[in-house]
Amino acid sequence: MQNDKMASDGRRPGNGGGGFPPIRRFAVGAFDENAYLVDCGDGIAALVDPGADAALLAEAVRSSGLRLAAVLLTHGHIDHVSAVPALLSAFPGVPVRLAQADSAWCWTMRNYFPPYEPVLAPPATLLPVADGDVFAVGLVRFRVLATPGHSPGSVCYAASFARDDGGREVLFSGDTLFAASVGRTDFEGGDPAAMTRSLRRLADLAPDTPVLPGHGPATTIARETAGNPWVVQALAAAAANDGTSAAETP
Ligand SMILES: [Fe+2]
Repeated sequence: MQNDKMASDGRRPGNGGGGFPPIRRFAVGAFDENAYLVDCGDGIAALVDPGADAALLAEAVRSSGLRLAAVLLTHGHIDHVSAVPALLSAFPGVPVRLAQADSAWCWTMRNYFPPYEPVLAPPATLLPVADGDVFAVGLVRFRVLATPGHSPGSVCYAASFARDDGGREVLFSGDTLFAASVGRTDFEGGDPAAMTRSLRRLADLAPDTPVLPGHGPATTIARETAGNPWVVQALAAAAANDGTSAAETP
């Protein structure tokens, strides 16, 4: 996988030039997890999945001149959360959002996965997210879609910018949907049937929605519904009215 810690700095998410501020991607840690620094307008930033390399991410925030106002976690796996304590030391008081179903094990030894050190205390600023939640960070509206399967508390964040008249969204898909792949369902709490339902749900988003995954390159809903074998299978199963078919995972 391309390690583009800095190569994608400042790129736009490709939503048709609709005015969404820059989103920077940093592939961090042992598994090249994608952390995203989102310029939310009004001088405010959000970090999605700060999984490692806290010093790099903190410097990115400082050099941006933006005020970090939110940390958004797509799920609890350690490669997505391990930089949270150091970032909260650098930027005290920033709320950290994670679904309760993953908070239940995220901050315990159940989340020990070498070479990462476990994070054994939940952030003091932890806030739960749940399906249907909508919240604003700066001028960006984040909509929460529960997408269990890879983990019980996996969510995607659909972000839209107040100054984009089209209301177009950018999807932070975590480890639910990747370019040409999907997240594993064989970890503790994984659920292949739930993953199938989650993929069907994401397939209902606008086809031109940019997708920014937790690993690997960006994609779009249209590209994945057309060519991602797991999404195609999930949709075919739905068409056949087979609600029990489960996605295979790589
Ligand atoms: Fe994961």
